[in-house]
Amino acid sequence: MVAISNGQGGEQGWSSRSAFILAAIGAAVGLGNLWRFPTLAGESGGGAFVIFYIGCVFLLGLPLLLAEIFIGRAGQTDAVGSIRRVAEQSRVSKRWSLFGGLGALAAFLIVSFYSVVAGWVLYYAGVFAADFGSAVLAGDPFRGALAGESQEQIAGRMGNLFADPMLLLSMHFLFMGATLFIVARGVSGGIEKAATWLMPGFFVLLIGITIYGAIVGDVGEAAAFLFTPDWSKLTPEVMNSALGQALFSLSLGVAGIITYGSYIREGTKLGSTAAAIAFADTGVALIAGLMIFPIVFAVGLDPAAGPTLVFQTLPFAFESMPAGSLIGLLFFVLILVAAVTSSISLLEVPTAWGVGELGWSRTTSALVFGAGAFAIGVLCLLGYNVLSDVRPLGFWSIFAETDILDTVDGFTGKIMLPLGALFTSLFIGWRADRRLLETTTGLSRGMFTLWRFLLAWLCPIAVTIILVTGLFPSLLGAE
Ligand code: PFF
Repeated sequence: MVAISNGQGGEQGWSSRSAFILAAIGAAVGLGNLWRFPTLAGESGGGAFVIFYIGCVFLLGLPLLLAEIFIGRAGQTDAVGSIRRVAEQSRVSKRWSLFGGLGALAAFLIVSFYSVVAGWVLYYAGVFAADFGSAVLAGDPFRGALAGESQEQIAGRMGNLFADPMLLLSMHFLFMGATLFIVARGVSGGIEKAATWLMPGFFVLLIGITIYGAIVGDVGEAAAFLFTPDWSKLTPEVMNSALGQALFSLSLGVAGIITYGSYIREGTKLGSTAAAIAFADTGVALIAGLMIFPIVFAVGLDPAAGPTLVFQTLPFAFESMPAGSLIGLLFFVLILVAAVTSSISLLEVPTAWGVGELGWSRTTSALVFGAGAFAIGVLCLLGYNVLSDVRPLGFWSIFAETDILDTVDGFTGKIMLPLGALFTSLFIGWRADRRLLETTTGLSRGMFTLWRFLLAWLCPIAVTIILVTGLFPSLLGAE
């Protein structure tokens, strides 16, 4: 076996192509699929959003995904170093590598609030574990969840959690600690192991709960809601959020896939690898919809509940479902698994940067960035209670009313992530050496032409639209 020279010191690489695919699917499948996608699909009225989203994934997301995998594979080191190397080989300015730094910063900021949200999931997993435990002790393990609580009481749990900084902080600490632990152990010993252990379990749970939803819930109504388009609902705003969601869900624009791609061994077919990741990620988002909405509809609840859909609407639905307590527990464990395999990929980006560019050891780098992200996450969670009046970018009209967590989320999602995607498409679409692209990707002639065309034209135009309308929502006629 050939050790790859990725500047990470020693044997830092995936052990096989399938290990990379699994880890990259783990990175892509996360809160974005299980929490944000159903939330957005529900809020945006279903079918038209979903169909437009699928179009975005394959016309924009897939070409960008392949571009990021290519940069990592060709560069073989952290995002900044990899872009610099591709720029050198293409004889263009090395300053392109700055967008790798922007990506690493974005990943660092995203993991800080991602861990806070994953902390809520951890809390709910704990609530359902306790509930299931008491059901077992009472000799009725298959009862509904949270027996006897009113809808207000169940919804109130979220408010109580948000009002309790110590509880939020403990959950955030546990989740970030687990993320840091895995990343510090390295690529093959930590990240790959986590993905190969967790992802199969994830798929079993996902399919299991979806079948359960189909049996006890209203899968016909859910499928009609998700796939029957009412095109009048496809407003510019909805298109904008579908585009942004496609980037977020595929982990694009933050150099995460560049970093994971740098650990791929020579000779791996990149095109089919990228396609497998995009299919799996989109498949999971759609299955998540088909898992959640039948349960929501069966109880006659509102699919457009927004971000609280998973935390308030569903727990209430589980109350009247057979085995709701057990299923609720499994559901939150499922989200937790998806979240951890994504958060490790986020923390890996700045960690690899510290190793590759600053010469730090992996442990030091993971600790520094993990602790830094933890600290920013603490500010985010205090924004729900102690610091609830703080509006970090309050002077800027689009963030005037936005609390700390939503500001970090909005700033990264609306600005940094599209910028990262824009630079990637311009760099690979226009500047990177054609021969290097052809030999590294191994695409057929026709696919190569299509890929480069989408990257050079469609991606920059579409992403610029997201960026500009994100910054100036009044252009969409919204405030
Ligand atoms: N794709 C992840 C999700 O859908 O939850 C979020 C994410 C992970 C974004 C890793 C970026 C990244 F590098």
